[in-house]
Amino acid sequence: MWIGKRMAQMCAVLIATAAYPAAADDVVLKPLNTTQSEVAMVFIQGAGIDPEQYVPLAQAIQTSSQYSLWVGIPKFSLDTPDPLEIAECISRIMDSMHAAGMNTKKFFFAGHSLGGTVLQDYLFDSGETGFAQVLMGSFLERKYRNISYPVATLTIGGELDGLCRVTRIMESFYHSVLKASNRTEAVANFPVLTVAGMSHMQFASGDPPPLVKDRDLRPEITEEQAHTAVASLVNTFVSLHLGDSQSFSKLSKAVEATEAFMQPILTAFELEGYHNFKPPCNSNPPSSACQVGSQWSSRAQEIMGGLKVARLNDTDQFHPVDQINPVHLPHIHNNCSSPTPQCLLQTGTVTQNIYDDLDKFDTAFVPISASEMRVKMSSRQAVMEAAGDKNVNFNTSDGFSICRVINENSYSWALSSASNTTVARFQKHGEPYVMGEDEGPYNAGPLWIWDHLKYKKTVNSSGDDVIDIRSPMMRTPLDFYIKVSAGFHYCKLLSPARAMEWIYVDGLRDHYNIR
Ligand SMILES: *[C@@H]1O[C@H](CO)[C@@H](O)[C@H](O)[C@H]1NC(C)=O
Ligand SMILES: *[C@@H]1O[C@H](CO)[C@@H](O)[C@H](O)[C@H]1NC(C)=O
Ligand SMILES: *[C@@H]1O[C@H](CO)[C@@H](O)[C@H](O)[C@H]1NC(C)=O
Ligand SMILES: *[C@@H]1O[C@H](CO)[C@@H](O)[C@H](O)[C@H]1NC(C)=O
Ligand SMILES: *[C@@H]1O[C@H](CO)[C@@H](O)[C@H](O)[C@H]1NC(C)=O
Ligand SMILES: *[C@@H]1O[C@H](CO)[C@@H](O)[C@H](O)[C@H]1NC(C)=O
Ligand SMILES: *[C@@H]1O[C@H](CO)[C@@H](O)[C@H](O)[C@H]1NC(C)=O
Ligand SMILES: *[C@@H]1O[C@H](CO)[C@@H](O)[C@H](O)[C@H]1NC(C)=O
Repeated sequence: MWIGKRMAQMCAVLIATAAYPAAADDVVLKPLNTTQSEVAMVFIQGAGIDPEQYVPLAQAIQTSSQYSLWVGIPKFSLDTPDPLEIAECISRIMDSMHAAGMNTKKFFFAGHSLGGTVLQDYLFDSGETGFAQVLMGSFLERKYRNISYPVATLTIGGELDGLCRVTRIMESFYHSVLKASNRTEAVANFPVLTVAGMSHMQFASGDPPPLVKDRDLRPEITEEQAHTAVASLVNTFVSLHLGDSQSFSKLSKAVEATEAFMQPILTAFELEGYHNFKPPCNSNPPSSACQVGSQWSSRAQEIMGGLKVARLNDTDQFHPVDQINPVHLPHIHNNCSSPTPQCLLQTGTVTQNIYDDLDKFDTAFVPISASEMRVKMSSRQAVMEAAGDKNVNFNTSDGFSICRVINENSYSWALSSASNTTVARFQKHGEPYVMGEDEGPYNAGPLWIWDHLKYKKTVNSSGDDVIDIRSPMMRTPLDFYIKVSAGFHYCKLLSPARAMEWIYVDGLRDHYNIR
């Protein structure tokens, strides 16, 4: 799951020189009950987690299955699932199951963590005949988004999975379920589900490997509860695909519950204009395949404008803020003679969302929300004068930390929109964001662009860990000596999605973990 390209290459080298493991390390579980029709599950381990550590989960799945379920868990070299070894592992475990008496061609796959990543690539490339796969603490990668993936896939994510973050599961939910052209088919073939209170390690048992120990969050259900919940979801999905149409309504209810859970996160990422929902239109003509701008930036311009009576209707557009040919600037398109309730200013802002470079590997290891929103807005002075206020003093209107005010708004929006349980957990165990004064003004062109929104871990006066956030800013009065740059106030904004992701995942890691 977490493994990067370099690590994957390293494993490939190690495996090439290592002997194949003895089949004795593989796990084969016979059905608990031989009276029903036989089905088999081949389970691919996560990195560093021994096949034996999946036996309790596998037994929970056997127990709640309406079939006589065989389970095979092959052991990879160094307990690290690898694309070069998976075909051999699967064929070896199938041989072992046949030798032990298995007599069915009906089989499905499951994979945990990195095992899910390697499994989905294998199934895609090999044209393997299993009827379904289950990804646990893992998800179908972005590279399969625009092509129809050939194998029905159930995705299960833990709410408190510190490795396979629940925000990335939300992204899968958005594409697989919410944006599916046919919801019935999506629910049946590509459901994405979450288990409340469950961590990454709870798909397995026993000691977590070092990386999981370091990164995972603290679960709020017992391991047995986690296994029972996962087993029920797996069996519902499997039964549906083996022809038990009654399972559909159960699966559909689970999808609805996940949708309700995801709602605050979905809303936050929509406000941001998350680029993995739809790419920014930038200079391409607006279409249903791209996003014109960020709704959050328009809200920011309203706060920046500070109008008391008159109103403002902003339209944001995504553009790289360092683009100069053509250059993209904020605009106020009309004006009023006085700031009455009838005065409605039409404004335009410009936004560029910045994402973590490592997110392109799509491992869910780093935050997926924008680390900063670079937003070009009209200054408060410019907005107030356009609304009909006369002789607005720039030092008074724009001379304080307005970016900070907007960022406080983003954070409090996230806190008021997250679920109650999430907020209660975060307030008890999480590291709060505190907004510091804006930095700058950085009025010399590129300075503002390349100076990042700062997140600095520090302690507040009561000695508690907090994250101090500061926005580099650029601002110019209406009488600025460069006429084309007059009347602007630019901020590095805290994305409401970043605040939400912090509250659900990353803000918990240092004080709500299993270390
Ligand atoms: C085996 O399955 C049958 C039919 O579902 C059930 O009645 C019986 O209790 C099961 N036996 C065991 C040992 O689970
Ligand atoms: C999927 O298609 C859309 C629209 O053509 C495109 O913008 C997007 O980049 C594609 N996504 C991936 C992951 O290939
Ligand atoms: C959606 O898919 C289901 C199952 O394939 C089908 O019965 C139904 O007619 C489809 N609905 C629409 C609106 O196409
Ligand atoms: C607000 O701006 C949008 C986009 O320019 C426009 O379509 C809409 O009519 C405006 N709304 C009002 C009330 O002026
Ligand atoms: C206000 O708008 C009118 C009409 O578009 C325009 O002629 C005028 O110059 C504007 N006034 C200011 C102060 O921008
Ligand atoms: C605004 O502040 C600057 C720098 O402190 C000062 O030079 C200027 O006179 C002030 N302008 C007004 C209108 O107060
Ligand atoms: C969440 O908490 C708020 C404020 O305490 C309360 O009004 C609301 O009913 C709660 N919502 C749920 C779903 O419990
Ligand atoms: C410091 O942060 C903690 C939360 O981590 C908070 O409870 C406390 O009130 C803060 N102290 C001050 C002085 O802001």
